[in-house]
Amino acid sequence: KGKNSTIFFCQNCGYESSKWMGQCPGCREWNTFVEETVSRQSRGGVSSSPGERRGRVLPTILAEVDVREEDKLVTGIGELDQVLGGGIVRGSLTLVGGDPGIGKSTLLLQVCHNLADSGHNVLYISGEESLAQIKMRADRIGEFSSRMLLLCETNLETISEVIRSGKPEAVIIDSIQTMYNETVSAAPGSVSQVRESTGVLLQLAKGLGVSVFIVGHVTKDGTVAGPRVLEHMVDAVLYFEGDRHASYRILRGVKNRFGSTNEIGVFEMQEKGLAEVKNASEYMLNGRPENASGSVVVCTMEGTRPLLVEIQALVCHSSFGIPRRQTTGTDFNRVNLLMAVLEKRSGVQLASCDAYVNITGGIKIAEPAIDLGIVIAVLSSFKNCILSTRLAAFGEVGLSGEVRGVSMAKNRVTEAEKMGFDTCIVPWVCAEECRKGSRIKVIGVKTVQDVIDVLF
Ligand code: TYD
Ligand code: MG
Repeated sequence: KGKNSTIFFCQNCGYESSKWMGQCPGCREWNTFVEETVSRQSRGGVSSSPGERRGRVLPTILAEVDVREEDKLVTGIGELDQVLGGGIVRGSLTLVGGDPGIGKSTLLLQVCHNLADSGHNVLYISGEESLAQIKMRADRIGEFSSRMLLLCETNLETISEVIRSGKPEAVIIDSIQTMYNETVSAAPGSVSQVRESTGVLLQLAKGLGVSVFIVGHVTKDGTVAGPRVLEHMVDAVLYFEGDRHASYRILRGVKNRFGSTNEIGVFEMQEKGLAEVKNASEYMLNGRPENASGSVVVCTMEGTRPLLVEIQALVCHSSFGIPRRQTTGTDFNRVNLLMAVLEKRSGVQLASCDAYVNITGGIKIAEPAIDLGIVIAVLSSFKNCILSTRLAAFGEVGLSGEVRGVSMAKNRVTEAEKMGFDTCIVPWVCAEECRKGSRIKVIGVKTVQDVIDVLF
């Protein structure tokens, strides 16, 4: 019999500790530790322990392993296929995370619909909704082929049996936080339960060559373990982002063992489920203000895809001693740093100003290439100077106020040109490359002072 012991887990990242801690050393979140009972026997279920396999195991010659490209299941949802790197790899385990209500179940139901239509057997397992509820949702999406099977179940043992006997090609688990494994004493949704359950699914996926999708809710209050706990166990991690109250949704690949990461897919939630947004730049720039200061468009790259987004800044005199700074969609410290650079290198008096910087469209961007856009938006608002709506910019800004080169400059300029922009401000070192074969006016800048001279 295994020994039972209690361990404290961080509900956010899965950090383990023998005692309770206020702040997690792993992810720096506060108040995320909860106590769980774990039986030592069942822990570490992912890798088979040495004693488990008695027979002789022989390594395989790498060159002789055959991989078939057609082994990818194409979902027919272009944006999703792109994020996945061309389709669903057989035997892969994919985690789809996101806030409740963002559209995870809807997207996966659409995946099932398309796969079933193209002749694949799929099984949708829900621990959250009843058959009737799923049917109601499915009716909005369309007619389903008889290859699409439903199961409402939370016991993994039963689920394993159904998968083993039915041999579907793709399985959806909605959601991992509702599943439980009888060998683990902790409650469903706890870190150890979620991990063990994923371990079981991983073995099913690899053993039977079934592609498994796991839905994981992201929860802020820490009542159930977040999907981050599982990130290292699965083959691919996709996160659904976007404002729940707005209609667009961004599906971002943050990990992919079979393709490039940081690809994004853009969707719009409509009456009949999620629709792909083919021209993401146009979508992101929808409803741009005209004749307003503090707004500029930047060309950012999301994986291999160029994307134009609007950056807005509002700079005004602070009525209090300590100026207020706030950012949405980008790094707060980065904005503060860029404002300090402007102050020090170009003498722009920002120290006593409140500043709000916003990336519109609900998208989060961490790429340094948007630095120049932030700088221009802040300057535009500070000087109350309206910029042309057909101006785009990109470039990284260094601490000396220098504008540094960024990758894939040409792609960014091409996207701007395609979207009808007439001027693009780029780092000096990229200007030559960007001018080749493009009709758009390319202005190369070396420092933020150059930017001020050119624009203001
Ligand atoms: P859902 O897929 O249930 O979210 P999750 O599984 O991530 O919790 O998304 C549900 C939301 O989407 C809900 O607010 C209703 C909306 N919705 C539509 O607007 N159109 C549709 O066709 C469907 C199926 C849902
Ligand atoms: Mg759901």
